[in-house]
Amino acid sequence: MLDFVIKETKKFLNGMPKSERKKKGQFFTSIETAAYMASLFTLGQKDEISVLDPGSGTGILAAAFIERIQTENIVKKIVLTCYETDNQVLPVLKNNLRYIKENSSIVVEYHVIQDDYLLSQANDFEENILANPDPPKYDYIIGNPPYLRVMKDNASALSMPSVVHGAPNLYFLFASMSLFNLKPNCEMVYIIPRSWTSGLYFETFRKYFLKYGKLEHIHLFVSRDKVFSQEQVLQETIIIKVKKTNTPPERVVLSSSKSNEDFNSITEIELPYNAVVVGDEWYVFLPTNEEEVKTIQRVNMYKKTLPEIGIRMKTGIIVDFRQWKDLRKTEEKGTVPLFYSQHIKNGRVNHLPSGKEFDWVVDSNSGLIQENKDYVFCKRFTAKEEQRRLQCGIYLASDFPQYTKIGTQNKINFIERADKKNLSLNEIYGIYAILNSTLFDMYYRILNGSTQVNSTEINNIPVPPLSDIGEIGRRLIQSNDLSTNNCDKILSEVAYG
Ligand SMILES: C[S@@+](CC[C@H](N)C(=O)[O-])C[C@H]1O[C@@H](n2cnc3c(N)ncnc32)[C@H](O)[C@@H]1O
Repeated sequence: MLDFVIKETKKFLNGMPKSERKKKGQFFTSIETAAYMASLFTLGQKDEISVLDPGSGTGILAAAFIERIQTENIVKKIVLTCYETDNQVLPVLKNNLRYIKENSSIVVEYHVIQDDYLLSQANDFEENILANPDPPKYDYIIGNPPYLRVMKDNASALSMPSVVHGAPNLYFLFASMSLFNLKPNCEMVYIIPRSWTSGLYFETFRKYFLKYGKLEHIHLFVSRDKVFSQEQVLQETIIIKVKKTNTPPERVVLSSSKSNEDFNSITEIELPYNAVVVGDEWYVFLPTNEEEVKTIQRVNMYKKTLPEIGIRMKTGIIVDFRQWKDLRKTEEKGTVPLFYSQHIKNGRVNHLPSGKEFDWVVDSNSGLIQENKDYVFCKRFTAKEEQRRLQCGIYLASDFPQYTKIGTQNKINFIERADKKNLSLNEIYGIYAILNSTLFDMYYRILNGSTQVNSTEINNIPVPPLSDIGEIGRRLIQSNDLSTNNCDKILSEVAYG
């Protein structure tokens, strides 16, 4: 059955350019991933079950689900509902479902709804006056939703305001709607990007999704980009199994495999629920081995965040393409140095001319420049292949004594006291040591799968007390060695107690 669907999908793919499908957020699940997703459901002996596959494409996921039921011979009848809007894939879907019905050893009743999965039910979701008093609910939902960022005034975005913050991606609107469509205590398995697990942008969604649903199993792909290897999707993707309940399970299973074609060598760990869903922001941590688990536990033992000890990471002020009129390539009267990520090198900040960039900014616009005082700078963007996400440098005002002001480009973050007074030299070096340590870099990478370093997330990481930070800095200055090894050593001596 699954083989037939895959064969038909391949035929469809041959006649449909990827660029066309991308516009619709259309990427198909591999046979191995579909079978693995179906295997995650908790199934028992039953006469009849209802199953939903929203955004079904060619029906790969529905086929995998039915194949599992059939093999285990535990259910007599399946009532399957598929939503799909793409007129080009719909004939393939219908043909596949007909084949499944005719060739299955269990009774399959299917309904293809050629309508927008979100808009057709948005009234029910938001429970306004037009809502259906008895919206359809399902026993099982299996999904690979469209990955498509839409404008904030897109009809789908406007129709689900309770989970939207800014311009949403359809994938998390689908996930919210599916949770809504589940019967109480029933399960959904979804393959989605991992981006929603952290960050302010997804907080509204996280708080809805994890309030009404509880994560029971998360599967990660350890090597990135392999999830849709045939499809070459560059998003980092995870599989989640979520139960619709208010009660968190004691433990969550975190499994990982190398790619979407290799589910034979799966590594599994189990963690307490509150080690995975953490803090007031409801971040979801995704460790894949014991070392990463220890890292999370280690850092989460610290009680306060940077803002709670009066310090903040902020994003650099100058956006090149907006302020280009105020930028200069060479120093002129009335200009001050502008700092970029290229100026962060070996733990310090220089101002060597980059050649390509505007290295100076006029000092007449006070909103664009800031005090020349000591900071810790941190790159906002790093390349995927680079080992570290947190790449920092100590900026000392004494290296640039001729200026009272400087500029920072918005591709770096800087750290200062929340009241803008000066941090002591020990504190500056101490903050650098923490961010330059292996512990914090690993913690950040477990928290955030992307290559960006967001100040909001750094500001939410627990850090050692300020007195310890000062002591770490003092020892770092004394040692005259800014390397990560030395930062690790000093951090463990002072703040692992
Ligand atoms: C990522 S694909 C997944 C297809 C299939 N479930 C699979 O796993 O291979 C998402 C599908 O959702 C469909 N789709 C996009 N927006 C939709 C909407 N608003 N309502 C229903 N289907 C939609 C697309 O045409 C596409 O076929």
